[in-house]
Amino acid sequence: MKLLITGSSGLLGLNLALDAMTTHEVIGVDRAKLKSPPFPIVNADLLTEGEVDRILDQTQPQWVIHCAALANLEDCESDPDLAHRLNADLPRALAKACEASGIQMVQISTDAVFDGTKSGSYEESDAPNPVSVYARTKLEGEQAVLEASPNAIVARVNFYGWSLGGRRSLAEFFYHNLSNNKSMTGYTDVIFCPMHVRHLGGVLLAMLEKKLRGLYHVVGTQPMSKYQFGVEIARRFGMNAGEISPRSINTSSLIAKRANNLYLSTDKLSTDLGLPIPSFSTGLDLFYQQYQEGYPQKLRSFAQ
Ligand SMILES: NC(=O)c1ccc[n+]([C@@H]2O[C@H](COP(=O)([O-])OP(=O)(O)OC[C@H]3O[C@@H](n4cnc5c(N)ncnc54)[C@H](OP(=O)(O)O)[C@@H]3O)[C@@H](O)[C@H]2O)c1
Repeated sequence: MKLLITGSSGLLGLNLALDAMTTHEVIGVDRAKLKSPPFPIVNADLLTEGEVDRILDQTQPQWVIHCAALANLEDCESDPDLAHRLNADLPRALAKACEASGIQMVQISTDAVFDGTKSGSYEESDAPNPVSVYARTKLEGEQAVLEASPNAIVARVNFYGWSLGGRRSLAEFFYHNLSNNKSMTGYTDVIFCPMHVRHLGGVLLAMLEKKLRGLYHVVGTQPMSKYQFGVEIARRFGMNAGEISPRSINTSSLIAKRANNLYLSTDKLSTDLGLPIPSFSTGLDLFYQQYQEGYPQKLRSFAQ
């Protein structure tokens, strides 16, 4: 299939493009961040008038996985207008254009649409209640996409992996600090379900192949605190977990509010997909194996 990936310089977009190109015809959308990637790219700022239509006309994909976003929570608080244009208006425009051309779109959303006050796990049927600009704009994007294109998939995700600049994911944050023997904080009261980005990409492609549609939680199956996640990384890399101080998120100077419990159920996904979701330990092993094989350096070689 011909697959267009927006945000192909980002953490998800780049890893997804590199993996998907082995089985599909991949075209990335880039803002001149990539240097000679092994897949073709279209250069575009997606907020420029007319670019969405131009790119779809030029590339004629069957599938679009929309990874471009303003994904940094603090940046969203400081520029809510940009957050709204990128996280809500752009997916709406893309979904309308995809629907008009019979293209199936995947909108990448976030676990952060929930306020985190539920005990236990969140199902797709639970009411969202976003607590930050980022989460509010992403929720509006979800709703706009499903309204404009009922065949679209909206995937609420949380993932980690190696990135182009080496600083994008929480796993890289722990890895860099641990490898420099720098002490860092890990939040004990923020629960999430991290999934390795390659596993996420594989599941998204399988969902498209299976012709799923609608809202899905596409996260890891094991809930843990951010502190635990850091400790797991330290152990896997044989580094000193004692450098990570367990703290409450309430002690942080972060401006964007974070929800405490983002344990999302993947029951709907595993039932509809009919495939097992890779375990956390498989993902962590893969993260370590990629490190041993020089994958972070390979990614960095694609940076302008
Ligand atoms: N990381 C996570 O754990 C996480 C968790 C939940 C949800 N998500 C969601 O997952 C998706 C991917 O996140 P990510 O972590 O891969 O984000 P990322 O690394 O920040 O990448 C964002 C991508 O969007 C591109 N972009 C931004 N503005 C653009 C514009 N005007 N025109 C064209 N491209 C533009 C960026 O291009 P430049 O490189 O040129 O800036 C970059 O390629 C997002 O929808 C995010 O909300 C991520």
